[in-house]
Amino acid sequence: MSPRLTGDETVLWQAAARVLDANWTGSATVPSPGLYPHQWSWDSAFVCLGLARHRYERAEAELASVLRGQWSNGMVPHIVFNGKVARHAYFPGPELWRSRGSPAAPKDVETSGITLPPIQALAALRLHAASPDAERSRAFLRVIFPRLAAQQRYLATARDLGGAGLVSICHPWESGMDNSPAWDRPLAAVRLPPLRYAPGARPLSAPTGVDYDRYVWLVTAFRDAGYVDGHLRDEHPFAVEDPLVNGMYLASLQALSELAEVVGEDALPYREEAVRVREALLERLWDPDQRCFRALDVRTGKAVPAVTVAAFGPLLDPGLPAHAVRGLADLLLSSRFAGSAGYPVPTCDIQAAAFDRAAFWRGPAWISTNWIVWAGVRQHGLGAVADLIHGSTLRLVRQSGFREFFDPFDGTGRGGHDFSWSAALVLDLLAARREGR
Ligand code: GLC
Repeated sequence: MSPRLTGDETVLWQAAARVLDANWTGSATVPSPGLYPHQWSWDSAFVCLGLARHRYERAEAELASVLRGQWSNGMVPHIVFNGKVARHAYFPGPELWRSRGSPAAPKDVETSGITLPPIQALAALRLHAASPDAERSRAFLRVIFPRLAAQQRYLATARDLGGAGLVSICHPWESGMDNSPAWDRPLAAVRLPPLRYAPGARPLSAPTGVDYDRYVWLVTAFRDAGYVDGHLRDEHPFAVEDPLVNGMYLASLQALSELAEVVGEDALPYREEAVRVREALLERLWDPDQRCFRALDVRTGKAVPAVTVAAFGPLLDPGLPAHAVRGLADLLLSSRFAGSAGYPVPTCDIQAAAFDRAAFWRGPAWISTNWIVWAGVRQHGLGAVADLIHGSTLRLVRQSGFREFFDPFDGTGRGGHDFSWSAALVLDLLAARREGR
């Protein structure tokens, strides 16, 4: 028999469900009302996991909505704009990206021109596993499989900027960890021409100043080159292989191989590609001294100095070798991460000079990265470590609500309120407990 939720857990479940209901626009979920009024692609994949436990049909609609924004080259954009929202309600909005100017962009919806960690295939597989109706779910997967396959092809070709089989991000925003200390060095090397945009509204909790100007300049450089692949390969100054992005890419490749079997496609190419990506990941991003993964600056060929929570991303790979799993578990439990934070997992090594307990992606715990670490250690059989992260994640939201991010020492909530992925992933964590998974 599955264990039941306790009274406290039921209250938490209902509160999380209310957040998802309130943030539903009719066809998709906003990450946080007011602050992020459109659809973000990795947010929506996390949201799917919660909706699958709450309102299953909406979970499929959520994924379908983000894939409506997919470009003809396979890229799944990081933001799909809601045409009903005032044009200046969010910066950088459609006026910065000008997606309609690109022949590859969809015509019926405006989007950004860059991507986010590719977790849609993984989300689709988990959705299928939670489906109350396997036949209906298979029909849905048959529709979206070609899109997920196209996304993978895009990443494997246009984004292999290092030429060794890994995905490069061409903008810090593509990592989802916008202001991580991992980008400090590659970003500092970007030479900034005079300001080309009117400084306007920017996300409340996002960084300001010269870094933000670099972020915007990287967008305009890519946009003004027509968003063509050749620009990223030959001219674009920012290209980084990140372990979180590549860990998710690898997990999505595995998921694609399983989805291929469900929909009657050939699974072998995805399995073979996963083997190649795993080898490249270990070859290029594994640091044998610190026994963890670090991002690689493709433009200089050097590893970035910062050790961040992205180090744990490859735990999502079911085939990660035991020595790497052990190294990552030791780091996670050390005083650099969970060992000295009351509310793990901090997003940056606590002992690093760049660590900041309150700053956007430079120290605070986020529910999304906690969920990744939890799912990763769990699938590698580290049950006690998984329970630690599960418990600390629920404590964060019990204490401070469904905030955007949290102080890793005392659990104080920061950034946006009623944050969708915080609510959705809590539903997934509670469902895992209820089902004894
Ligand atoms: C911020 C986060 C990013 C997220 C977005 C919407 O930009 O850094 O990861 O996708 O907000 O929630």
